[in-house]
Amino acid sequence: MLFLGLESSCDETAVAIVEDGRKVIASRLISQTEVHKAFGGVVPEVAARRHLEVINDLVEEVLDEAAIDPRTLAGVACTTGPGLIGTLLVGLSCAKALAWSYGLPLLAVDHIFAHVCANYIDTELEPPFVALVVSGGHTQIMHFEDYKHATIVGQTIDDASGEAYDKVARLLGLGYPGGPAIDQAAIKGNPKAFRFPEGVVAGSDFSFSGLKTAVMRTVENLKADDNTVSRLPVNDLAASFQDAVNRVLFRKTLAVAESAGISQIVLAGGVAANSDLRKRFESLDKFRVFRPTPALCTDNAVMVAAAAFYSGEPVSFSVSAYSRQR
Ligand code: KG4
Ligand code: ZN
Repeated sequence: MLFLGLESSCDETAVAIVEDGRKVIASRLISQTEVHKAFGGVVPEVAARRHLEVINDLVEEVLDEAAIDPRTLAGVACTTGPGLIGTLLVGLSCAKALAWSYGLPLLAVDHIFAHVCANYIDTELEPPFVALVVSGGHTQIMHFEDYKHATIVGQTIDDASGEAYDKVARLLGLGYPGGPAIDQAAIKGNPKAFRFPEGVVAGSDFSFSGLKTAVMRTVENLKADDNTVSRLPVNDLAASFQDAVNRVLFRKTLAVAESAGISQIVLAGGVAANSDLRKRFESLDKFRVFRPTPALCTDNAVMVAAAAFYSGEPVSFSVSAYSRQR
């Protein structure tokens, strides 16, 4: 079964065709990073307009590359949320038009589920597993009982981990997007240079706002102390911050998998591209660890077309988008 997937929940416009949730047939993606860099973050209105300018061309290119009659597709799938409403509606309107004109089913895909489904590409992963979903908007540990059902076991009570990466990167003058910049800077830094606190939250939940404040205070103190520091030790600060985030993500995910007796751990979302986080999980020998290629960790349409096969919900043409997780 071939599904066409569309993604426009934030600042990536993407279209892909995936076979049986596992094999990529064709894929196109345009990132708006350069557009939003000047603003230090995503500007929703600008993002929506940019999606509108390029999405039809991407659909055409993907259909051309796959060289199939669109009427033979099993359906058209689209991210309906959570995400930015204005940008989501661009993808959804395009998906509706395609499904209607080719007489195909329309499928709604949840963005969080889609991120997890990136792990089915070219692997034999099957539920049950524990998933750590870490992105710009979400940080949660989920227990996937089967392909369609998941329980949230733990989540952030304030900032998402990706949001913390982005905010601290801005503080350190590393620009936008912050995650990859901190990842690179941290490689050259000492993770033990500063001892930043892990958020003190019981159980499997997370908190990153205290950590962000701790980095901010340290930066302020270093800047004030002109006698000893003429330039910020950015690499050490980045490495120490990254260590504090990844330490708690790793420890709590492991604890959930152990206590549930689950032997498979899955990483998903933009922060799953982080090289230090991947290394920590890759070092485990008691668990089978799955993580998408870095390009499939951040937003893309391959994961949407994969999710269509495993958990996509056929919906009516009156379906709308939603901004918050439900
Ligand atoms: O999943 P995603 O592309 O979009 C959302 O659903 O939010 O995740 C984007 C987030 C951003 O916060 C970005 O800074 C972070 O993922 N990110 C990373 C890395 N690459 C992207 N964070 C840490 N290390 C990375 N290598
Ligand atoms: Zn995402």
